[in-house]
Amino acid sequence: MDNKIVIFDTTLRDGEQSPGASLNIFEKLEIARQLVRLNVDVIEAGFPVSSPAQFEAVKRIADESPAVIAALARAKEADIKAAAEALKSAQKPRIHTFSSTSDIHILGKFGDEKYGKTLQEKRNTVIKMSYDAVAYAKTFVQDVEYSAEDAGRTDIGYLSEVVEAAIEAGATTVNIPDTTGYTFPEEFGKIIGELRRRVKNIDKAIISVHCHNDLGLAVANTLSALTNGARQVECAVNGIGERAGNASLEEIVMAIKVRKDLCGFYTGINSPEIFNTSRMVSGFTGLVIQPNKAIVGENAFAHESGIHQDGMLKNKQTYEIITPELVGVNKTRIVLGRHSGRHGLESRLKELGYNSKGEELQAVYEKFLALADKKKEIFDEDLRVLMGDKVRKEEEYFELVSLQVQSGTTAIPTATVGIKTGEEILQESAIGDGPVDACFNAIERALNIKPEVEAYHVRSVTSGRQAMGEAIIRLRCNEKSFTGRGISTDIIEASARAFLQAANQEYLYLKKLSPIEGEEELSVA
Ligand code: KIV
Ligand code: ZN
Repeated sequence: MDNKIVIFDTTLRDGEQSPGASLNIFEKLEIARQLVRLNVDVIEAGFPVSSPAQFEAVKRIADESPAVIAALARAKEADIKAAAEALKSAQKPRIHTFSSTSDIHILGKFGDEKYGKTLQEKRNTVIKMSYDAVAYAKTFVQDVEYSAEDAGRTDIGYLSEVVEAAIEAGATTVNIPDTTGYTFPEEFGKIIGELRRRVKNIDKAIISVHCHNDLGLAVANTLSALTNGARQVECAVNGIGERAGNASLEEIVMAIKVRKDLCGFYTGINSPEIFNTSRMVSGFTGLVIQPNKAIVGENAFAHESGIHQDGMLKNKQTYEIITPELVGVNKTRIVLGRHSGRHGLESRLKELGYNSKGEELQAVYEKFLALADKKKEIFDEDLRVLMGDKVRKEEEYFELVSLQVQSGTTAIPTATVGIKTGEEILQESAIGDGPVDACFNAIERALNIKPEVEAYHVRSVTSGRQAMGEAIIRLRCNEKSFTGRGISTDIIEASARAFLQAANQEYLYLKKLSPIEGEEELSVA
């Protein structure tokens, strides 16, 4: 058995399903290009039938990417057709179709009698649906992946039957998801081992795993599956995804690399691109990386205690199992300033993974100069923040044109905002508990909205007095979350911009994402 592990990245599909993390098409394209530099084997670009925006994103990524591009489809003809259509121009298309297999899911989702009266009849229907879906997908592409949703809680005998049927219908990869992140590593590894023993045609397909992190075990479960014979892992950058997320790409890749002595596996990942990829995904999704996150957290290579620092000075191997350079963390800080030219900016952006050219580069350059006027030194983190801000702004319906705030220990915090929308300027004032709350209240009045603030973070993205402040906010409007991000050297302005951007996301969603065939926009685990 070959020990190469296929890395199937689902940042743009399952990852994008993280609450509030919706990405626009420009951001998806930038991330897909960066995933190519990272050298992942498969990019799952989206779920085409779920909305016109998803369809378009998969299509645009398929048009230009040399990687295998996967598109998700339920075991339904309309879904598979949409996936095939979106993948038409892909050099290496893959249709990824799935059906639920656990009794809990079958009884919950296929309760209607048309699927059968008894559990056994319903199970038989699912086998037939799965077989038919794979066979139908095969009429469009050679490379078909089948997933048994909630396999982690599926009876092993029945799971073996479903997997066998999918392979018989032509599946080239069979994916075993622990959809709810329920299993323990040994237990999950055993499922893979059992499938290899029970499914008679198993050698005709690659076994893949897709582990969720509800108990914090996604990476451990994935590694256990590999030692039991799985050879594809589905994972997401920074471990983002539904609920507690997916197995983290960087953790799996580095575990395999650092402990090759133990497992003997290898991947094709270009590990020095890990850090850039991680920061790009965090910047565009607005999902902040916890400081102690393995591999990519701010503290992953920081040594705080005296004993550790002393050990590191004597011999780095005392406390360091991965060098920062191996994952692209550059300790020498390259600084740009107001005298840096456009070329200098362009080449540094390129090194950070961004491809700005022409008009777009000019727009970034102008922002860069405006920032350089406010702060002397511009660091990589500033540039990443500028890029995140720029790409999102391509689709802006509300623009903050003025902001005035009064606050102090004795004054009642008051804010006045001016918001441009089309030709109109909306102006409103409001008071609040503090200056930020007053800003939010004024924006709500101007736009006539009343969202719930689900999450709000402010942080400085670089160090020192002139640090840029980044505000990230998640608003809940009509049962859906929208993330906004604002940057400024003034954190109140950054917060107002973040609020407005989230409101903008909602507006875009309502305006553009008209559901298909009367269905709500779909998402799966
Ligand atoms: O978690 C899951 O089961 C999924 C499938 C669609 C692969 O995301
Ligand atoms: Zn999933």
